[in-house]
Amino acid sequence: MMNGIIIFKSKYGATKKYAEWLSEDLHFDCVEIKNINTQQLMQYDTIILGGGIYASGIAGLSFLKKNIDKLSGKKIIVYCVGASPYEEEAFSEIYKYNFKDKLEGIKCFYYRGAWKENEMSFPDRTLCKMLQNVVAKKDPATLAVWEKALMSAVGQNCDWTDREYIKPVVEYVKGLAK
Ligand SMILES: Cc1cc2nc3c(=O)[nH]c(=O)nc-3n(C[C@H](O)[C@H](O)[C@H](O)COP(=O)(O)O)c2cc1C
Repeated sequence: MMNGIIIFKSKYGATKKYAEWLSEDLHFDCVEIKNINTQQLMQYDTIILGGGIYASGIAGLSFLKKNIDKLSGKKIIVYCVGASPYEEEAFSEIYKYNFKDKLEGIKCFYYRGAWKENEMSFPDRTLCKMLQNVVAKKDPATLAVWEKALMSAVGQNCDWTDREYIKPVVEYVKGLAK
């Protein structure tokens, strides 16, 4: 029997939804990162960390960065949740940007999340508008996947979360137990 936990940081709910689905399928505990400490994590063999992507950074990953030495010996997996459709090159850029030094080599999966402009905080909405204005001035043929997704999401409320996305993670984690 595997013994694991999903810890997550979610601002608009998509990462939380995936955490709950993973918890149901894997029978792992599920806790927000702000409510956990490394001492409590010691009882688990496997730790899955989930975080939304904000301006290319993965929310909650700083917790791992700070505590990676204390968590040595644990099986660690990360999933990140963004608005863009999956694209290998874009994901590889996200990986390089987030997984440096001691985090290099950690297995990471990508899920598509949501874009909820009507729920965004004022700073987030302002930042997105600024980014949209910058991207609007670029040649559409040169846009990255994330930039295209940003432009097509203007003024919209979209939810791309899909339980199907968790299958590769569930398989991967079950494979670790064999
Ligand atoms: C200010 C801001 C910046 C964002 N930056 C990115 C990004 O760089 N790449 C991306 O794919 N999605 C980006 N998104 C979309 C979020 O990743 C998406 O809404 C995701 O569902 C967030 O996870 P959460 O719902 O758990 O908070 C951004 C959203 C906001 C509000």
